[in-house]
Amino acid sequence: MEQMRNIFLIGFMGCGKSTVAKELHQMYGLHIIEMDQLIAERQGMSIANIFEQYGELFFRDLESELLGQIQADSKQVISCGGGIVLREKNVAEMRKNGSIVLLTAKPETILSRVSRDDNRPILKGKKTVKDITELMEARREKYEKAADFIVATDNKTSYEIAKEIMQKIGETIC
Ligand code: S3P
Repeated sequence: MEQMRNIFLIGFMGCGKSTVAKELHQMYGLHIIEMDQLIAERQGMSIANIFEQYGELFFRDLESELLGQIQADSKQVISCGGGIVLREKNVAEMRKNGSIVLLTAKPETILSRVSRDDNRPILKGKKTVKDITELMEARREKYEKAADFIVATDNKTSYEIAKEIMQKIGETIC
């Protein structure tokens, strides 16, 4: 049996990475890494405050640094921040020891999931279908290029999505 590597969940904000990571943890016992949560805990402040006080570049450096550290282990499901693909070196790092799964959702679905959340600085003042569509389009190529597999999440339960991911990865986990 092939050694189970890490599973990196990537995709736009609100596409369901955290929920699906929890499901993969529950169904298959994979260790969960929630990147944004870890970054916030380490810095002792919210993601919104990190952006506000230190800027996006500082956050992106923390993100890349953390990625390098968590890669040392395997059998983990890693819920990445939506901007992880913005740096090519992050994608190269994920590839070293993981399968990269892109979760997608329609802009309308994204909007309904993020509308009441103020901890996403990239979406500040941009919570319309039009703005979200534009942001998604601007990142689409990077997401699709990085992905080993793409799983659409609209109208699916997290159980169905988790099953589909494991099927696509084609791994058997003990
Ligand atoms: C970001 C997505 C966020 C978080 C930060 C930046 C992005 O994570 O990392 O606000 O650039 O898309 P989620 O995708 O978990 O919301």
